[in-house]
Amino acid sequence: MAAPTAQCLAAAAAASAVSAAVAWTRPAPGLALAAALTALSALAALAATAPAPAAAPAPQDEPILPVPLTLHADPARAALGRRLFNDVRLSANGRVSCASCHDLSHGGADSRPRSAGHDGRFTELNTPTVLNAALNFRQFWDGRAATLEDQIEQVVQNPVEMGSTWPAVVAKVARDGGYGQAFGAIYRDGVTAVNIRDALASYERTLITPNSRFDQYLRGDRNAITAAEKTGYAKFKQYGCVACHQGVNVGGNMFQKFGVMGDYFAQRGGARPSDLGRYRQTHKADDLHVFKVPGLRNVAGTAPYFHDASAATLDQAIDVMFRYQLGRVGSKEDKAFIAQFLATLSSAPLGAP
Ligand code: HEC
Ligand code: HEC
Repeated sequence: MAAPTAQCLAAAAAASAVSAAVAWTRPAPGLALAAALTALSALAALAATAPAPAAAPAPQDEPILPVPLTLHADPARAALGRRLFNDVRLSANGRVSCASCHDLSHGGADSRPRSAGHDGRFTELNTPTVLNAALNFRQFWDGRAATLEDQIEQVVQNPVEMGSTWPAVVAKVARDGGYGQAFGAIYRDGVTAVNIRDALASYERTLITPNSRFDQYLRGDRNAITAAEKTGYAKFKQYGCVACHQGVNVGGNMFQKFGVMGDYFAQRGGARPSDLGRYRQTHKADDLHVFKVPGLRNVAGTAPYFHDASAATLDQAIDVMFRYQLGRVGSKEDKAFIAQFLATLSSAPLGAP
């Protein structure tokens, strides 16, 4: 067998440097990230001269993992959760359900910059998708909920969103004979707040999207994505997007500052309280404008983008990421390749009607 060429070696070095940078960036908060990004820029310069490897590496070497085919949600609980998800009785005045803001026919979000809650007031932040939320390490833009159940606990009582109380929700659900029977068949203690949250979270665990073309590619079907999309994926890795958007949800597994390489909020016209991010929870200076890195699965269908909905299109969001997260410009072609790659991350959720 022929000795490996210099090009192969360069590509291999680039690949292992990416994993090293990724592994190293994960726990590094705040300032250390800038150093990691500098390393990534150097890496990108190196990678730019190396051609993409001819054969796709084995999935276990990839910084992005396929979505599991199931999260083992109990089907009876998930079916009950689906009913609750679409039930306006979870809100104080019967005007909104979870689905009002997390519409599965709109990528699990609602296409609006902000969503109207039960009394017509608007949410402070852009509604994130509920698709694959089960794969996130924490919930909400600032990660303040540790679990799906915790998120549900809060949203039902949020004065702008559903504006209800748990005793009121339990009473309304228990009054419906159909629900009483279904809960009784599954849960020993029938309709309780804990069981309502469990059923809803079970349903959310079915809202995963393991069948995107990119997942098929990661599972070994080399032809599931086109040459241009493969180039986009290579660029996504080479530029260092993958340092933050990685793992099974292409994000959703770490916190990072929005505006690592420049003040995004200054150029937008000044920061608002809703831009504080993690700082609101911790009051630590290092957490100012720090958000959960959002997962990018199905991202082509969830415009507008960012917690403040300040990017109307995916192309704009990619531009902002280049400028403020990487401190780079990026050629028009490279950005277009990356957008094409991101579009391969979409598919219908398993638990869709
Ligand atoms: C009025 C619109 C609205 C309603 C109703 C609503 N949500 Fe949300 N949801 C949002 C917004 C806005 C956020 C982000 C809030 C934040 O991060 O502070 C969010 C966040 C979430 C998240 C976190 C996703 C992530 O990636 O962090 C999940 C999961 C979720 N909602 C599920 C639900 C469920 C389940 C219900 C019903 C019990 C529900 N939502 C009702 C608007 C809504
Ligand atoms: C330093 C970490 C970091 C890097 C590097 C990074 N991102 Fe992000 N990305 C984030 C954070 C944090 C957010 C959420 C910003 C917010 O809304 O507060 C985000 C948001 C996004 C969004 C919007 C998602 C949504 O649902 O609103 C897209 C699209 C995106 N990034 C793509 C990219 C691309 C493409 C690259 C490479 C060019 C990249 N990112 C590089 C951290 C990063």
